[in-house]
Amino acid sequence: MNIFKQLSLLLRFVRFKRFLGSLFFSYQRDRWERQSPSSQTSEPLQEPGKLLQAEPTTTGGRFYFEQAELEISFLSADLIRVDWKPGIPPIPYGIARQDWSEVETNLQETAEGWVLSSTALKVVIADNGKLKLHNANGQIIREERPPQRQGEAWTHRAQLREEEHIYGLGERAASLNLRRPKTEAQHIETYRLWHYDAGGMYSSGTDPLYLCIPVYLGLHKQGSYLVFYENTHSGNVTFKDVAEVSFEGGALRYYLSVGQPTQLLERYTELTGRPPLPPRWAFGYHQSRWGYETEEAVRETANGFQHHDLPLSAIHLDIDCKDNFRSFTIDPDRFPKLREFNQELAAKGVRLITIVNPGVKADRNSDLFEEGRAQEVFCTYPNGKLVLAPVWPGMCAFPDFTNPLARHWWSRQYEYLLDLGVTGFWHDMNEPGVFTLRGDATLPRPTRHSMEGRGGTHVEAHNVYGLQQARAGYEALCEYQPEKRPFIVSRSGWAGLQRYAWTWTGDVETSWQGLRQTVPTILGMSLSGIPYTGPDIGGFKGNPSDELYLRWFQLSSFLTFCRTHSANNVKPRTPWSYGGTVLNHVRECLRLRYRLIPYFYTLAWEANRTGHPLIRPLFWCDPDDQRLWGVEDAFCLGDALLVCPVLEEGVGSRKVILPQGGWYNFWDDALITGANEITVDAPLERIPLLVKAGSILPMEEGEQLTLHLYPPVQGSGEGCLYSDAGDGYGEWRCDRFRMDKGENGIELTWEQEGNYPFPYTSVQVHLHGIELKQAWMDGKEVPCQGNVVECDRSLWDSSQIIAIRFSTHQVV
Ligand code: NOJ
Repeated sequence: MNIFKQLSLLLRFVRFKRFLGSLFFSYQRDRWERQSPSSQTSEPLQEPGKLLQAEPTTTGGRFYFEQAELEISFLSADLIRVDWKPGIPPIPYGIARQDWSEVETNLQETAEGWVLSSTALKVVIADNGKLKLHNANGQIIREERPPQRQGEAWTHRAQLREEEHIYGLGERAASLNLRRPKTEAQHIETYRLWHYDAGGMYSSGTDPLYLCIPVYLGLHKQGSYLVFYENTHSGNVTFKDVAEVSFEGGALRYYLSVGQPTQLLERYTELTGRPPLPPRWAFGYHQSRWGYETEEAVRETANGFQHHDLPLSAIHLDIDCKDNFRSFTIDPDRFPKLREFNQELAAKGVRLITIVNPGVKADRNSDLFEEGRAQEVFCTYPNGKLVLAPVWPGMCAFPDFTNPLARHWWSRQYEYLLDLGVTGFWHDMNEPGVFTLRGDATLPRPTRHSMEGRGGTHVEAHNVYGLQQARAGYEALCEYQPEKRPFIVSRSGWAGLQRYAWTWTGDVETSWQGLRQTVPTILGMSLSGIPYTGPDIGGFKGNPSDELYLRWFQLSSFLTFCRTHSANNVKPRTPWSYGGTVLNHVRECLRLRYRLIPYFYTLAWEANRTGHPLIRPLFWCDPDDQRLWGVEDAFCLGDALLVCPVLEEGVGSRKVILPQGGWYNFWDDALITGANEITVDAPLERIPLLVKAGSILPMEEGEQLTLHLYPPVQGSGEGCLYSDAGDGYGEWRCDRFRMDKGENGIELTWEQEGNYPFPYTSVQVHLHGIELKQAWMDGKEVPCQGNVVECDRSLWDSSQIIAIRFSTHQVV
């Protein structure tokens, strides 16, 4: 028999084994699920009943109803925790902060009900359990109905205003406003809270996806609020005249905050954790493909980037690098010298990221499996037998990441790959996803989990499975390489994933619709506290046309995670697979991204301090401007840039709704003022890009820094540049710039903070939009080259406040 025939037989055999495995698993799952049906439907529906008693507590108040108990605690003046009991309290997986300082609160009985207030927020508790939330100006921001309980399940409803827009819920293939009229195409009626492996492809309207978070932000004419349900159980959400959220079990605990969207994200990430500063290289370009089967294939790809003069920061290895797809292994035949190979790549500035799947092949010859079994760290059925389900390597056991022992055991496994020089990890299939012929492609609902020792089922643990895997991975990297910042990309997660990992938007379909969907999906993630994500450039399964690939690339080069990835059965997808023209445009686009890395990095530093996402919806600039509430075909990168990707085939221009203020066209410096809808040119080689008047944009080219000054329409503007070694936890510095527009020109002041030495050897200042006639630095006139002036080294060595004056008139 020739080798091809042998191979094809083997393939069929492997598939057949997988098929048998799926059959076996589906049968087992159904059997167990039949034995433990959900009880709720047969139980009576209960409301809290009448309020019997109220009492103040040190953090707020406690209210006793006939059939429920309510506790409201102020964590800060504008953030409350609301606890409706009974119900098993959650394990605080999503919560990063427990110690809040005491807030002065007041509890009073009024004609409307009991009023519990701080300086920023007032809650009125009605006799039947209705809650009304007022902001500091006394406006009603949210009205909640008495919650309902049926068996173990809670349902919670809040009134929505006619014009109210709703955002968030983690990763969704929906419109940005989750409450779009039903008539619109691909409208999702019910959003599920249950992570789901879309199984190779999803498109607009698919729900749920891999990463659901029960958090949403409501915006209406009176203001905005954010609500986060700390409940990991399976649940459903609908937004019609009311917002209705239901969970299959657990206590009804939620957090509420009122304020501007900026404040809401500050509060939410104070509660669930701020994203740590990633290593700087992570903002470079990542190349990936399911199908890099050998070291040679990866080498060829890395060389291709060098050969075509394209920057590259990382290559991701999919399951092909594994030994029979097993976790924490490397195929010795196809990647025989990974350590040396990693060194070779490192010399080119390229890091390797390898995939890690949670399923551990159930094989008596596998040390990992035997060790895990001996330590009892795998998920089991109620009778104590291992839950086995098919994934890539065959029948697998699943570590129970809600067990601290399992996390510790798992975290020790990364060492082997770290020692081989692998830089980061890509957690895939961690919803967890399994292969099944029918029904839910995850672990059976009755699967037992430790839940930190208190016990629970998969109904509660499913949504935090990937989050706890990310936690184990993050802790492993911190422990083994304390001098480096961890880099993990995780497909699944929950509230708080931002503390441990980046993510990506999974197997999005290769189509213009898939491209269009990317923007609202990513904005929804931003508003759910997850700042680092990006799509598979070109879509996962399929071969994008030249134009689709290029437009997808242009969009992604302004997103936080810029990675091409594709399925194993599609054509190779690198910038040079598309011929000279596309290659040249992609090169320009990548160069621009690399020049902007100081800006990305500064925004990342700010995200770490404030929780503000880097990628923001347009209404972030001006939440009062209703025209911006539904914009989902453009986004802001920080305060300075408004990115208007081309999302339609065959167009050479597009419309943009502009927020108030002045905006410069990045490509020709034309200033546009007034809140208009404008049309911008979008030739194939260019993504329309606008810069807010008043911005100072730091851009680098090698060791040269250029400060791009976009003068304010009037008044002043500012900018900031954060620098450090790019990894680790050493010294840092922040250079703050301010520009003031006067009658005759502009004055730029530069202030320095921190001890990290200034990392550039030359600095230029480039004035945009106004013709530059003369310039002075620290009182001395300096020559202008067009609109650019070169700064003298003594300026930034002096650590004084520096003043640079630009005149738009000839003074002498
Ligand atoms: C599913 C992931 O979403 C995809 O990115 C990956 O290539 C495949 N699993 C194979 O590992």
